[in-house]
Amino acid sequence: MKLIYEKSQAGRRASALPRYENLPSPPELPEELRRSEPPRLAEVPEFELVRHFTELSTRNFGVDTGFYPLGSCTMKYNPRINERLAALPGFARLHPLQDEDGAQGALELMWRLQEILAEVTGLHAVSLQPAAGSQGELTGLLLVRAYFAARGEAEQRRTVVIPDTAHGTNPASVTMAGYELTPVRTDARGNIDVDDLRGKVDEHTAALMLTNPSTVGLFDENIEEIERIFHGVGALMYYDGANLNAVCGISRPGDMGFDIVHINLHKTFSQPHGGGGPGGGPVAVRESLEPFLPVPAVVQQDEGRFGLEYDRPQTIGKVRGFTGPFGVFVRSYAFLRMWGPRLREMSEVAVLNANYVLARLKEAYDLPFDRLCMHEFVLSARTLKREHGCTALDVAKRLMDYSFHPPTIYFPLIVPEALMIEPTETEAKETLDAFCDAMLAIVREAGEEPELLKEAPHHRPVKRLDEVRAAKRPVVKYGFEEHPDAKGEPKVAAAEAPKGV
Ligand SMILES: Cc1ncc(COP(=O)(O)O)c(C=O)c1O
Repeated sequence: MKLIYEKSQAGRRASALPRYENLPSPPELPEELRRSEPPRLAEVPEFELVRHFTELSTRNFGVDTGFYPLGSCTMKYNPRINERLAALPGFARLHPLQDEDGAQGALELMWRLQEILAEVTGLHAVSLQPAAGSQGELTGLLLVRAYFAARGEAEQRRTVVIPDTAHGTNPASVTMAGYELTPVRTDARGNIDVDDLRGKVDEHTAALMLTNPSTVGLFDENIEEIERIFHGVGALMYYDGANLNAVCGISRPGDMGFDIVHINLHKTFSQPHGGGGPGGGPVAVRESLEPFLPVPAVVQQDEGRFGLEYDRPQTIGKVRGFTGPFGVFVRSYAFLRMWGPRLREMSEVAVLNANYVLARLKEAYDLPFDRLCMHEFVLSARTLKREHGCTALDVAKRLMDYSFHPPTIYFPLIVPEALMIEPTETEAKETLDAFCDAMLAIVREAGEEPELLKEAPHHRPVKRLDEVRAAKRPVVKYGFEEHPDAKGEPKVAAAEAPKGV
């Protein structure tokens, strides 16, 4: 596909409105502020412009175009009603510095969202401020620090325990919060290895960080024992709520013994996410941790009146501008109100869908932990690699030829050739079946014609990219110096990143 600049022809225009005779003359601009030459803009007719951007939009894969089983990311459908509500002028045009009297509706929405999240997590108080799961993690760990500092145990509590299945943001957050990392193994059933754990938890432990269900899609069967071990030494329990989609209305982190939870609003409670935004990572805490939450706190002052509270002497301070990513709150609140008391059904269907796909695929791929899964599961392409030289990456690339977004691959790290599949509650049985048929066809192809996989994708606009280079050195601007107009001869524009990018 050509760039818009390559389609440009001098003199072509998108519209030709008649000029209004009596236009006032533009104000005189000082000479030094005027551009020396006109901007270089693409010159195309309107229909070309529309075709160009419409074609570009079809190059993107999203939940709105197909099945997106990207494990751990919960790529569920985002109902359009969320967007309608977030676009209401009273929400969309509200200034963050609007005085409280003029923002009662927004404050009430935030307060109500906090109340719902407290109920879903089984905890006491919520701050909506963090803008991502990872920022929620850091906020949670800063709360741990503040809690122990207030008890005079800041020096003593130095370590945070995380399992070897943890998402990469967990160890990163631990380090950013100034703690030492203590890794703990996973046992043969996919639970935390409790024997390994016992030797690693003592009076120096500040907290456990755990995703439950874990990143292998399994609910830890020993969670009560784990809770006794940590609370027994006075440590705290931190719940990475990225996988909350499996348990809403069924089990609550607070009831499992967790003291702090972050919730990925953009996963469980629906936002168009991926590619870096937008997100929300509220934290919920037990009563003993409430004084440390970020300010301002959104509170109900009297019956029917809401406000912001800054006077919290033990707060960790602000972690985000104003009250957090407000548009995200409106969407998640709309989503939660839409499900209402049926929220449990959302998680039940997510778990059912995952188990259905697992049951259809478990004989064809390796299954590291043969148990009922939660909302996602992890297969391995180990045998395909050994027998036919086809890797998890090859399977993922070939799936694109079948018009499916690949699952997460090579994560969690403890599973070699991992394929992590999360169908979510969104999908109908026909879609799940079509996906399973494709996954099974790929196994057959690996045996009969492995090159098909190794060279996939075959039917996409681009073949295999240098993914590291594409991520680390993306070409995000047109290299004008390479522009055919400048050189007098057509070139493949912007093939190389301009210097310094
Ligand atoms: C288990 C787990 N924890 C934490 C995170 C981090 O969340 P975010 O991407 O919102 O920063 C993710 C994101 O995929 C995750 O899967």
